[in-house]
Amino acid sequence: MTERELLELSIKAQENSYSPYSQFRVGAALLCADGTVYTGCNIENATYGATNCAERTAVFKAVSEGKRDFTAIAITSSGGDLTFPCGICRQVLAEFAPEIKVILTDKDGCIKIFKLDELLPHTFKL
Ligand code: THU
Repeated sequence: MTERELLELSIKAQENSYSPYSQFRVGAALLCADGTVYTGCNIENATYGATNCAERTAVFKAVSEGKRDFTAIAITSSGGDLTFPCGICRQVLAEFAPEIKVILTDKDGCIKIFKLDELLPHTFKL
């Protein structure tokens, strides 16, 4: 699975985005160590607070299917700029994969890759 292929799956995942409040579609594609991929989209709610981000949708789908070992996540959105994961999603990713590769792209197709620990140093731990 190349970085570009994972990004393409995240773009496809935007199709199921439920985002009537923000009109901002987000897609994520989470690559597991065994090569399987779980995708996710943002799912908004009239309460706003109950909204679930695309990244967490993908992580929760994977974990609920017994997967916990993740190597990369691609994130894209209907916005033109790089779409970085929000703070809550960074913490959720860190729970399972503190060194996961976060793959982003902008509307010109320029790929940027970050390690999660540079996006969220000093993760909260119990
Ligand atoms: N959103 C995500 O799906 N992922 C993020 O990391 C940041 C924000 C969604 C939530 C909401 O549906 C919309 O983007 C606007 O905040």
